[in-house]
Amino acid sequence: MRYGFIGLGNMASAIIRGMIASDRFRPRQIQGYDILPETASALARSTGITLLESPAEAARADILILAVKPQILEGVLRDLRALPLDCALVISIAAGRDLAFLQTWLGENTPLVRVMPNINAKVGAATSALAANDRVSTELKEEAARIFSSVGSVMELPETLFPVFGAIAGASPAFCYLYIDALARAGVRGGMSRTQALKAAAGTVLGSARMVLESGEHPFALIDQVSSPAGTTVEGICALQSLGFESAVHQAVAAVMRRENSL
Ligand SMILES: NC(=O)c1ccc[n+]([C@@H]2O[C@H](COP(=O)([O-])OP(=O)(O)OC[C@H]3O[C@@H](n4cnc5c(N)ncnc54)[C@H](OP(=O)(O)O)[C@@H]3O)[C@@H](O)[C@H]2O)c1
Repeated sequence: MRYGFIGLGNMASAIIRGMIASDRFRPRQIQGYDILPETASALARSTGITLLESPAEAARADILILAVKPQILEGVLRDLRALPLDCALVISIAAGRDLAFLQTWLGENTPLVRVMPNINAKVGAATSALAANDRVSTELKEEAARIFSSVGSVMELPETLFPVFGAIAGASPAFCYLYIDALARAGVRGGMSRTQALKAAAGTVLGSARMVLESGEHPFALIDQVSSPAGTTVEGICALQSLGFESAVHQAVAAVMRRENSL
C-alpha cells in the first residue's frame, strides 16, 4: 500500500513520524508533496519518505491524505478534480470541511474518510474521530484507523458530532495546557520552582486522565474517593464549583463551536 500526503506541515509530519515509529508502515511506502520544499525536505531527510514534485504524483498513491489548511483545501481539490483520481481512498484532516464538501469536488463515488486528529499527535497521544462516506469498505476504514492509531486513539463518530468533538478534543488540548499552567503557577505561588510545579501539574493531569480511562469509574466516583469528610480536597472542589469551573468549561466549548460556525 502507498500513502500520499498533500501538505507536509505540523499534522502531516506528526502522522508520518507516528506511522514510521509504529513499525507498521515503511518510509518507502510514504510519499508527500508540499508547496514549501524546505520544510518538506527536512522531514524527508529525517524520516526517509519520498518527496514529490506535484499533487498529481501524490494522487497516484493508494491512499491520499489531504493535510493542508482548510482555507487551502478548495484549491487542492480543484486541482485534484482535473486529474484521473484512481486512489482507493481519500482522507481529509481539514477542520470544518465535511464529507459533503469533499464529495462536491471529488464526486459521490469517491471513497472518502474525514478524520479530526489533535495536536497531541506530535507525542503519539492524539484522540481522533473518524467518519466515512458509504463508498468506503470496512477494510479501508480499518486501514484509515490504522494510520491514525499510530499517533493515538481513534473513534468512529457520526459526522454530525464532529463540531462538538472538534471543541472537546480538537481545541481542548489548549484548554488542558491552560489548566496545567494555572495549576503550576499556583505551585510556584506556594514556593515550588517552575520546573517542579510544571512537572507535578502535568504529571498529575496525565495520571488523572489514565485513572478515568482505565478505572472505568465515573469521574465523580473518583472525586468522592479522594474527598474525605471535612477534608482538604472537598474544600478545593467546592471552591472550583462555586467559582463556576464547569460553567466556564461549557461556555468555552460553546464559544469554539460558535466560532467554527462563523468561519
Ligand atoms: N494542528 C492541529 O492541531 C490540527 C488539529 C486537527 C486538524 N488539523 C488540520 O490539519 C490540517 C493541517 O494543519 P497543520 O497544522 O498541519 O497546518 P500546516 O502546518 O500549515 O501544514 C500545511 C502544509 O501544507 C502546505 N501547503 C499550503 N498550500 C499547499 C498546497 N497547495 N499544496 C501542498 N501543500 C500546501 C503548507 O505550506 P505553507 O506553510 O507554505 O502554507 C504547510 O506546510 C488542517 O486542515 C487542519 O485543520 C490540524
